Amino acid sequence: MYLSDPFDDLLICRLSEGRKAVEPCVIIIFGASGDLTARKLVPALYHLFKEKQMPPAFSVVGVARREKTDASWRTELRSALDRFSRTQPVDEAVWQDFAQHLQYCQGDLTAAATYEALRKRLAAAENELLRRNLLLYLATSPSQFGEVVEQVYRAGLLHKEGGAGWQRVVVEKPFGHDLPSARQLNQELTRFAGEHQIFRIDHYLGKETVQNIMMFRFSNAVFERLWNRESIDHFQITVSEKLGVGQRGGYYEEAGALRDMVQNHLLQVLSLVAMEPPVSLAAEAIRDEKVKLLKSIRPLSEGDMARQVVRGQYSAGIVAGEQRLGYRQEAKVNPNSNVETYVALKLFIDNWRWSGVPFYLRTGKNLPLSTSEVRVQFRRTPHVLFAAQCGQKLDPNALTLHLQPHEGISLRFNGKVPGTSVAVRPVRMHFSYDAEFGAYTPEAYERLLLEAMAGDATLFIRRDEVEAAWQFVDDIRRAWEHKPLTDREFYAAGTWGPVAAEDLLAQNGHAWREPLVVRV
Ligand code: BG6
Repeated sequence: MYLSDPFDDLLICRLSEGRKAVEPCVIIIFGASGDLTARKLVPALYHLFKEKQMPPAFSVVGVARREKTDASWRTELRSALDRFSRTQPVDEAVWQDFAQHLQYCQGDLTAAATYEALRKRLAAAENELLRRNLLLYLATSPSQFGEVVEQVYRAGLLHKEGGAGWQRVVVEKPFGHDLPSARQLNQELTRFAGEHQIFRIDHYLGKETVQNIMMFRFSNAVFERLWNRESIDHFQITVSEKLGVGQRGGYYEEAGALRDMVQNHLLQVLSLVAMEPPVSLAAEAIRDEKVKLLKSIRPLSEGDMARQVVRGQYSAGIVAGEQRLGYRQEAKVNPNSNVETYVALKLFIDNWRWSGVPFYLRTGKNLPLSTSEVRVQFRRTPHVLFAAQCGQKLDPNALTLHLQPHEGISLRFNGKVPGTSVAVRPVRMHFSYDAEFGAYTPEAYERLLLEAMAGDATLFIRRDEVEAAWQFVDDIRRAWEHKPLTDREFYAAGTWGPVAAEDLLAQNGHAWREPLVVRV
């Protein structure tokens, strides 16, 4: 039976109503022949176009070194769309209209002539707004970010101190590889663009369920008043992946799980889960709170490192019935590599709300499930009335935010097992996005591109946020440097990571809860 509970439409508050209209603009993708453009950016723009969210006039200009024409670029993107579009089949009529907006500009990103050609092309636009409203998307390797921005500036396409229209620079991760390099990159970019013009992407912030963390916390009195050390025993934030590093061995050798996932996605989720309520929904107000939270993470001393941080690397094993190579055997990976493919850590936040509450974070590749979730474990009951029948310990209540897949939220609590004997067991209440709202799951990049075009920086990372995250992560990185992996740090593909990750929680009488596989 399905209970229907009619909601009063008036209670639906539409936060987006305050969003600025998106003005006509040109999206220039630097490094357009890379994977990101075909897999994420163009499918996202196609869907925005299909859903009539693109501005009335726009064009997408791809800049890259390879020789291509507008027509051949469009053909390439069309077949990529068949593979990567979240809606299938691709709507041919919509595609034909959309494709008219795609242009390719061949050129070397280090040559001033490329930017001059770009300038001329833009100057020829009939619509005046298309000559000056520019979204400059850096889909290049990070080493080129500084150069591209400087060249764009010198060609007169980017105005730092006002000027006509707007220009925004969208930067993909990795944003530096440690604190000094992130600072240097920030300096390079801010020589030619104001901080308000720089939109640093963390695609986790574009996910519906990640945005919902704030809505959930600050629109429900029932949970927010429990959201503190009095009621919460600990948090578990898991981002696990069934995939190995695949073809990305070269990149991963430089990154590792700490830089690839913890510095950005996990710390972003943590900051939304644990921050104080912002004074308003303004981008700066929210980002102020996130930075404050990141700065309140207790730095790890050398002694803490052994007790609070676990790294791991996968060895050969079986994931979902499929034989997987060990990391050291993957393409473009050093056969003696000490790069971590798994990280688990326990951290504390030094503020009034969270004093003494452990936050456990873990992420890894080649794990048994692909799932991202935040588990909030509440404190146990102070006294067990049913101890004689059920033992001294009842299952503690837990709330799980299922970020992906099976997006939703579930609450676990205890209930009586029907029958004449006294038996208590955990039961669950579950909210599923699919069941409640239908299968509307826009890709993170759709939302992020739209917000960048509208000029709302809320879902992007501010300079001080990036730096605060590196500050924390750098201590861990330094402690690992030059320390070869020990046998205990390997885990077989298809398992939940090294044994030490279990011990990390066991020290406090806790245990990782296996992510829930929700069947709806
Ligand atoms: C990326 C990492 O930022 O996030 C990848 O570079 C990782 O290694 C990916 O696989 C995970 O994103 P998602 O959206 O699939 O959880």
